[in-house]
Amino acid sequence: MLKVRQLTKDFGGLRAVDQCSFTVSEGSIFGLIGPNGSGKTTTFNMITGFLEPTAGQVLFRDEDITGRPPDQVAQRGIVRTFQLVRVFGRMTVLENLLLGPKNQRGEGLLLGMLNLPVVRRQEEQAIERALGLLDVVGLRSIADEYCRDLPYAEQKMVEIVRALMTDPDLILLDEPTSGINPSLVDQILDYVRHLRKEEGKTFLVVEHDMRVIMNLCDRIAVLDYGRKICEGDPDEVCNDPAVIDAYLGV
Ligand SMILES: Nc1ncnc2c1ncn2[C@@H]1O[C@H](COP(=O)(O)OP(=O)(O)OP(=O)(O)O)[C@@H](O)[C@H]1O
Ligand SMILES: [Mg+2]
Repeated sequence: MLKVRQLTKDFGGLRAVDQCSFTVSEGSIFGLIGPNGSGKTTTFNMITGFLEPTAGQVLFRDEDITGRPPDQVAQRGIVRTFQLVRVFGRMTVLENLLLGPKNQRGEGLLLGMLNLPVVRRQEEQAIERALGLLDVVGLRSIADEYCRDLPYAEQKMVEIVRALMTDPDLILLDEPTSGINPSLVDQILDYVRHLRKEEGKTFLVVEHDMRVIMNLCDRIAVLDYGRKICEGDPDEVCNDPAVIDAYLGV
């Protein structure tokens, strides 16, 4: 579904990502791990159009989407969440979710002002979808709360739910469980598994927590100083000497 080929990013003299290649198959949960600063977020940014690669290619369903801007990437069914939560604190949970769907009618100011039935209908559908998603994660009761009043874990969940509003096919999660109480981590992981199993979604996940990655992912690539040093299933990766070295720093 997603092919990354020889992807490279230089920041001045620093090569943050170095000829990185991997393939994510449809319906899988693919993990991208590595020590701090190894290029995981930079890779995400290149895939989703937030950064232009210095070299290499990103193919989505065999279409070359290298260097396309974020909205065009999103239109093709790819969304991402951010390492640090980006929800709007002064808006309610529901309002945050309604910001999600892009390129729908009624976005333009003029159309919005005309208040046409077609626009209202889309709005109603979006609200219905938002409340439905909140139901699934058990957060419907907080739909009208301001995001700034919510615990961090719930804000993170709101961000994940918001990413789902456009019904994407591929979801990139940048450290979905960091900063979250371990008892709530399982809730997020269960939801990801549910989306894969019941809705056939595909995930690319960056995580620091090895336990999370090993439990969640079918396949894992390991970065170190921007280079892919290993790829395999959780067992293979766990037992790879290069990975152990990178993590223990010996
Ligand atoms: N916009 C930027 N300008 C310059 N250097 C950058 C920029 N973004 C990232 N870097 C550098 O590129 C390298 C890779 O950073 P990146 O954020 O991709 O790592 P990461 O694997 O996501 O790390 P972490 O686990 O800490 O989130 C780091 O050395 C970082 O300092
Ligand atoms: Mg990062």
